[in-house]
Amino acid sequence: MKREIRSFVLRQGRTTPSQQRALGDLLPRFGIPFSDSFLDAKRLFERTAPIVVEIGSGMGETTAEIAQAHPETDYVAIEVHGPGVGSLLKKIEALGLKNLRVIRHDAVEVLGQMIADGSLAGIHLFFPDPWPKKRHHKRRLLQPPFAALAARKLAPGGYFHAATDWAEYAEQMAAVLSAEPLLEKADQVKNRPVTKFERRGLGLGHPVRDLLFLRRKE
Ligand SMILES: C[S@@+](CC[C@H](N)C(=O)[O-])C[C@H]1O[C@@H](n2cnc3c(N)ncnc32)[C@H](O)[C@@H]1O
Repeated sequence: MKREIRSFVLRQGRTTPSQQRALGDLLPRFGIPFSDSFLDAKRLFERTAPIVVEIGSGMGETTAEIAQAHPETDYVAIEVHGPGVGSLLKKIEALGLKNLRVIRHDAVEVLGQMIADGSLAGIHLFFPDPWPKKRHHKRRLLQPPFAALAARKLAPGGYFHAATDWAEYAEQMAAVLSAEPLLEKADQVKNRPVTKFERRGLGLGHPVRDLLFLRRKE
């Protein structure tokens, strides 16, 4: 899919020496290079297990925590921000996680090109950049084409779990996901650990909203 508007602006920010080392030494071990062919999860994880993709894993604390708590599931984190990827790689090494790998690339291209339709048990989208200014709303990730792409990648019964601390984006997410024909709203929301970005929002008094949708089975 050729796109002009992206959901991120790459500011490198400060990469600490240990994140830098992780990007050099650990990315070849725990990273998956972007490619235009489908990911062979069975070969990558050396087993057949449900695959969950996380979009925009940030510094990766929650990502690693979830993977550690669910050894029966394999996780692929997608993140463009170098320091965040470095930080997640360090956690994968420190915790010895065999069920978590990371792709440093635009998640829209990864979903479109590396993930087969109907192959995912779940997708996590926790606190995507809210792009609060009206002129930036076009950068928000969760819009109808993205919802359609994500829904198509889920296996029947697979879940899409989104969370945001930006009330008006939550409304948009609910409307977009409800309008996607392949998805239906779930009765209950899944538990998840508090994320780094969420903690900041909570400190500012933002209400947090979780949304859970399932891919229809028929
Ligand atoms: C607000 S942060 C939230 C990070 C983390 N989920 C948390 O809750 O702490 C959003 C993250 O999404 C990443 N991101 C935005 N658009 C992306 C894209 N198209 N592909 C991959 N990562 C993206 C950004 O780099 C950023 O790290």
